[in-house]
Amino acid sequence: MITHAITAGQLTEFAADVRAGLTKPVQKELPSKYLYDRIGSTLFEVISELPEYGLTRADERLLRRHAREIAARVPRPVSVAELGSGSGKKTRWILEALSGPQRTFYYPIEISPAALAEVERELGRMDSISIVGLEREYLDGLLEAAARRQPGGHLMVLFLGSTIGNFDRPQGLEFLRQVRQLLLPGDSLLLGTDLEKPVPQLLDAYDDPLGVTAAFNLNLLARVNRELDAGFNLRRFAHSARFNPEARSVEMHLRSIERQSVDIPRAEIQIEIAKDETIWTESSHKYAPDEVDAMAGQSGFCCDAQWIDREWPFAESLLIAE
Ligand code: AVJ
Repeated sequence: MITHAITAGQLTEFAADVRAGLTKPVQKELPSKYLYDRIGSTLFEVISELPEYGLTRADERLLRRHAREIAARVPRPVSVAELGSGSGKKTRWILEALSGPQRTFYYPIEISPAALAEVERELGRMDSISIVGLEREYLDGLLEAAARRQPGGHLMVLFLGSTIGNFDRPQGLEFLRQVRQLLLPGDSLLLGTDLEKPVPQLLDAYDDPLGVTAAFNLNLLARVNRELDAGFNLRRFAHSARFNPEARSVEMHLRSIERQSVDIPRAEIQIEIAKDETIWTESSHKYAPDEVDAMAGQSGFCCDAQWIDREWPFAESLLIAE
């Protein structure tokens, strides 16, 4: 059996986060970053292929179509740091367009060693690219990449796939500010954001009829079972996706189909869940194009250029640190 290797420290942190999230008084929650163990990451790759979920394809189309224009706006020499590289597949175009006669350093930043191994497989054979995988949280990894910058060299940060959408708006802005603090004027951030679209289309994207997103969501409970010895019966929970019009986000929840109690020994808790009570597992915020521009201005960047996919509204924005 292939198990996802996590360290003792990570397990302790996972237990603490599960405990904190599931003992919240009003709305139980589990942090969305835990959706991506080996099985969850694989299921997300499948979601990316679904006709109802156009987000990843739009991101890839934009990067493929506009790689040269994007690269032309970035000063050299440049090193590239990617926050949450995933498999690294869509980064190839940018790296190709950026790499010139001298070698380009690429720092994929991932908490999952499996993802870093995948990046190595996907991009390891590119000439003139040196891959230095950083198994860290985003900001720790970025600090490390910044510390390795060449004298006079620039840093280009990639934050693609609308991962920023998992933060609420104030947290997203704060995150951009923290990224900015690790950069120097003239450095850049290429930010991918999913744009607002009709609610029925969004609900289809996050509740596909094949049930892959449901499996992706339920896997979080399966992971708590695997890693923390919990007794969640997955058949007693239903995936649910809802649009939150105030937050302008799609929320994923796991709804308890009956009243139940669940034991989570390694988090040292036993929880009671009422019938129809939910565990909130993720929010995916949707943006207006000029909103990204405004966020850039409020976090010490200026939005230099923006590319939008019309087939599946999605924006790639090139922000330059001021
Ligand atoms: C990888 C965070 C961009 O929020 O759309 C896909 C994750 N969740 N289907 C998203 C996800 C449900 C995805 N991101």
